[in-house]
Amino acid sequence: MTIQTILKMGDPRLLRVAQPVTRFNTPQLHALLQDLNDTMIHANGAGLAAPQIGVDLQVVIFGSGEANPRYPDAPVVPRTVLINPTLTPLGDEEEEGWEGCLSVPGLRGVVPRFKRLRYQGFDALGQTIDRTVEGFHARVVQHECDHLIGVLYPMRVRDFSRFGFTEVLFPGLDAADD
Ligand code: NI
Repeated sequence: MTIQTILKMGDPRLLRVAQPVTRFNTPQLHALLQDLNDTMIHANGAGLAAPQIGVDLQVVIFGSGEANPRYPDAPVVPRTVLINPTLTPLGDEEEEGWEGCLSVPGLRGVVPRFKRLRYQGFDALGQTIDRTVEGFHARVVQHECDHLIGVLYPMRVRDFSRFGFTEVLFPGLDAADD
């Protein structure tokens, strides 16, 4: 396994619009997914996008199928590899929720996201993914796919009175890896 260095906000590689994957089920793609998986698990992340480890491709992974220690109260999101995603909001309704990001360590902020959306894309083998989701699952997808268009969650924060250091905002939370 290879735990890669996670780029931090300020690195221009996090601001790029990522390139689409053109070949599926290749050793290179599987190696990238293995690195993303190992790096996300090591950091207790809820998701990770290829640009966060410096790879300029439209690849994200998220979910674990089990509770996440960084978000202990969050609903479980299925383990997902999502490549070349397209997001379609279903309705205008937004929902606010706290977010953090492995590229913005030590901070959390309230971010408005579409409550319901459809997402489409491909898995590692090139098979179609087409899901309609809401709530936390929809939030995670929007956060991760933002990384593919060079957007970090602080750029979505509207109310900076609800943005700050995790240890101050949530003193009881185990954020050792944050
Ligand atoms: Ni992030």
